[in-house]
Amino acid sequence: MEKLIDLISKEVTEAFVAGGYDGKYGQVTLSNRPDLCEYQCNGALAAAKEYKCAPFQISDQVAGRLQGAPMFAVAESVKPGFLNLTLDPDYLAGYLREMGQDEERLGCVKCNSPKTIMIDYGGPNVAKPLHVGHLRSAIIGESIKRLGKFMGHSVIGDVHLGDWGLQMGLIIIELKERKPDLLYFEETYQGEYPKEPPFTIAELEEIYPAASAKSKEDEAYKEAAMQATYELQHGRRGYQALLAHILDVSVSDLKRNYEDLNVSFELWKGESDAQPYIPDMVEKMKADGFAYLSEGALVVDVKEDTDTKEVPPCMILKSDGASLYNTTDLATIVWRMKDFAPDEIIYVVDKRQELYFTQVFRCARKTGLVKPETKLKFLGFGTMNGKDGKPFKTREGGVMRLEYLVSGINDEMYKKITDNHTVDEDEARETAKLVALSAIKYGDLSNQASKDYVFDIERFTSFEGNTGPYILYTVVRMKSILKKYMAERSMPGHARILPARSASEKALMLEAGKFNGILENAFAEMAPHKVCAYMYGLADAFNHFYHETKIMAEPDEMQQASYIKLLGLVKRILELCMDVLGFEAPERM
Ligand code: ARG
Repeated sequence: MEKLIDLISKEVTEAFVAGGYDGKYGQVTLSNRPDLCEYQCNGALAAAKEYKCAPFQISDQVAGRLQGAPMFAVAESVKPGFLNLTLDPDYLAGYLREMGQDEERLGCVKCNSPKTIMIDYGGPNVAKPLHVGHLRSAIIGESIKRLGKFMGHSVIGDVHLGDWGLQMGLIIIELKERKPDLLYFEETYQGEYPKEPPFTIAELEEIYPAASAKSKEDEAYKEAAMQATYELQHGRRGYQALLAHILDVSVSDLKRNYEDLNVSFELWKGESDAQPYIPDMVEKMKADGFAYLSEGALVVDVKEDTDTKEVPPCMILKSDGASLYNTTDLATIVWRMKDFAPDEIIYVVDKRQELYFTQVFRCARKTGLVKPETKLKFLGFGTMNGKDGKPFKTREGGVMRLEYLVSGINDEMYKKITDNHTVDEDEARETAKLVALSAIKYGDLSNQASKDYVFDIERFTSFEGNTGPYILYTVVRMKSILKKYMAERSMPGHARILPARSASEKALMLEAGKFNGILENAFAEMAPHKVCAYMYGLADAFNHFYHETKIMAEPDEMQQASYIKLLGLVKRILELCMDVLGFEAPERM
C-alpha cells in the first residue's frame, strides 16, 4: 500500500500543479500543531518567493481546489500561508480496512529491488563466555536483520567468531601443562584424534582466563603460547584438532546463549575461516602495487584528501609476516564476495572500532576486494553503562556474564508476576522469560544505537512508561478483550472498521496508519529505535482510546465490531513490530 503521507502529498501536489505552481511545493508533513490539524503543508511560503506573490494567495487557491477532495474533512488556508489538513474519518477508516485485509504485512510492501545483505554481528570470542559487551551487537544486529528480511531483502547474518590468534595458543599451552599426555601434543602422531573433546565448557572457560593471566606474568609462557599459535596457524595437526574441539564445545554453548536472546545466525563462520584467503589476497595487493613495506610491515595507504582526522595506513602483515585483525576482516570480505556476492555488508560493532572499519573499508575498496557499488556500512553502537554512568559491571566490579544478567532479570520478572496473583509455576516461568526478554531488548533498542545508555533494570522491567513490559502488557490486554468478545458472540460477517467517533479513536487510527512508513524508514536508516518510539506512541494511543471507550458495553453491534476490528489491527501492528525487534508477547501476564 502506498504510504498515507504520500497519498496526502500527492493530492496536495496535484492541487498546486492545477493552480499553476510547481508540484514540489505540495510536500506534506505531520502537523507540528496537532491541536490545530493532523497534517500540514508549508509549500506556499516557499512558492511565494518563486511566484512573487503573497503566500496566502497561493495557500488560499490550493485550499480552494482541495475542497472537493474526499480525503480531507478540513483543508484550510491559514495566514501567512499554511495549509492545515485534517483527514476525513471515513477515508482514514478505509485506509485501515485495506491494511487489515493484508493480514501478513498490513500494507507494508516489500522493496522492489531486493538485495543480498550480509550482517556481521555478534562477534563473540570462543572459549570466553558471552558478557554484557556482546549484548548490544546481538540485539541490534538481529533486529536490523529481521527488518531487512521483512522489507523483502535476502539477509544473511554471520556471527564472525573470534577464533583465531593468541587466545588459541594460550588455551593450547595451558592444556598442555595440565594434560601433557594428550595425543594432541605428540608431534609425530599420525592417526585419528578422539571424537570426544578433552574438556568441558566449564573447564574451557576457566582455562582461558588462567592462561591469559599467566602470560602476563611469565614471559616464557607467553612465548610458548605465541609459538603454539604460530604452529596452529601453520597447520600443526594436533593443534588444529584441538581448535576443532574448542570450536565445537564453545559454539554449542554460544548457540544456547544466543537462543535465550531469541538471536540466531545463518552462518557460524569465524576469523579462522578467512585464513585460507589471506596469501592470495596479500599477493594480489602487492602485485597491484597497493601494498608496500613500511618499517618492515606491509601496509596499504588509505588516507584521503578530505580527511579531517588522520587515517593511518591499513596494516596487512606485521614485520614477522603474521596477520592481524585487519587482515582477517579483509580476507573475510574476500570469501563473502566469492560465496554470496552481497550488495551490502553491514557491521554491527562497538563504535570505538569506527576508525578501524574506515581503514578496512577503504582498503577493501581501493584494492578491489569489493565492487564499486558494494556498500560497506558500519553501524557502531555505544556503551551499555550502569547507573553510575560507567560501563555496566557486576556488584563486585567484574564483567557481567550475559547468562547471569538474563537469568537475574528472569527471576525478577518471575517474582513480579507471581507477587500479584497465583499462576501456574510453569506458565509463570515461561511468561517471565518473555517479559524479561522484552525488557532487555526494548530497553536497548529504544535508544539510538550510536549513543551510550544506562542499563537501568528497574526502569526496563517496569510495567509503566516507555518499556518492553508496557508494550507487552498492552498487547496482552488486547488479547484478553478479543478473547472475551469472541467468547460472548461471533463477529458479524459484514463488520468493518467504521469512521472514528471520538478524538482518541481518530488519534489511534492516525497512528495505526503510519505503520508501513515507519518500518520502511527504520530499515533505511538502520534505526530500530524508531520502531520502538512508534510502538510506544501506538500503545499509548490505544490505552487512551480504551479508557475513554466502553468497548464491551457498546450497544450498537456494528460499532462494537468496528472497535474490535480496530483493536485487532493495532494488536497485529504491535506484534509485527515486536517480531522485527525480536521479542514476543505472552498470552497472559
Ligand atoms: N570479536 C571482536 C571483538 O571482540 C568483534 C568482531 C567484530 N566484527 C568484525 N568483523 N571485526 O572485538
